[in-house]
Amino acid sequence: MKILNYGSLNYDHIYLVDHIVRPGETLSSSEISVRAGGKGLNLSIALAKAGMEIYHAGMAGEDGTELLGILREHGVHTEHISIHAVRSGHAVIQVDGQGENSILLYQGANGKNSVEKIKKVLSCFSEGDVLLLQNEINLLRELMEIACEKGMKVVLNPSPMNENVTSCDLSRVSLFILNELEAGQLVGETEPEQMIAAMRVKYPEAATVLTLGKAGSIYADGERVCRCPCFPVEAVDTTAAGDTFAGYYLTAMLCGREVGECLRTASAASALAVTKRGAAPSIPYYKDVEEFLRSR
Ligand code: RIB
Repeated sequence: MKILNYGSLNYDHIYLVDHIVRPGETLSSSEISVRAGGKGLNLSIALAKAGMEIYHAGMAGEDGTELLGILREHGVHTEHISIHAVRSGHAVIQVDGQGENSILLYQGANGKNSVEKIKKVLSCFSEGDVLLLQNEINLLRELMEIACEKGMKVVLNPSPMNENVTSCDLSRVSLFILNELEAGQLVGETEPEQMIAAMRVKYPEAATVLTLGKAGSIYADGERVCRCPCFPVEAVDTTAAGDTFAGYYLTAMLCGREVGECLRTASAASALAVTKRGAAPSIPYYKDVEEFLRSR
């Protein structure tokens, strides 16, 4: 079984601020850094750091050498990433004193995938392989369609949520990993228990992992519901906490671990991620996650 993550690659321009800038306000930041990010790249790095062999597909711009380099440094296969003659995707991220963030995205090369390219990439994968998707690239719907026709399993982290996601045939998804905001937008509920119930009704063939920040996480499929508390830590930057959770959950799941253990490992990994600044650089290695779990 091969794992393909078809997703975004971004340069994150991270500004430390006292508070997130308000409409009409001009605010100085105390620090800036430029790091690798993008929900796609972060997820590939989380899977790789968790010990999984992973193929990343997508588009980088002509300035994307460092993004590919970082993936390769972590052992991610990059032969399905093409270079397009535009700028790479980038994000402007403000991180405040409480570790909360706000993100402004520029899609850049991430929006330049063609049907021809996705067919070519997917021709290298087959029945039983897994396709991971987030929502920072174009042609999400076509990717799901072609992958399902081939018998691949589709795992969707519908982040950031918008009509690009809701216009897809989401009955093709085997597993959703999403947060409260995203679940609310998909099923129109406000309470976690109702969201889980509504996901079961709307997507009866799919399993759902709902992340609830400080309230932990919930897994549900047709047979069981499993809950996991979060690990309280001092957060300095919550960027990529969701990507880290998803990468570690999937790795544990694909290694055949019990659902409760998958949730616990993913929660520990995302707890560690929020104690460090940045997106990809904040994702912990498996040995650190193991050590953290042993210490609890
Ligand atoms: O999930 C965090 C990511 O969201 C950042 O790395 C940024 O690039 C945006 O895509």
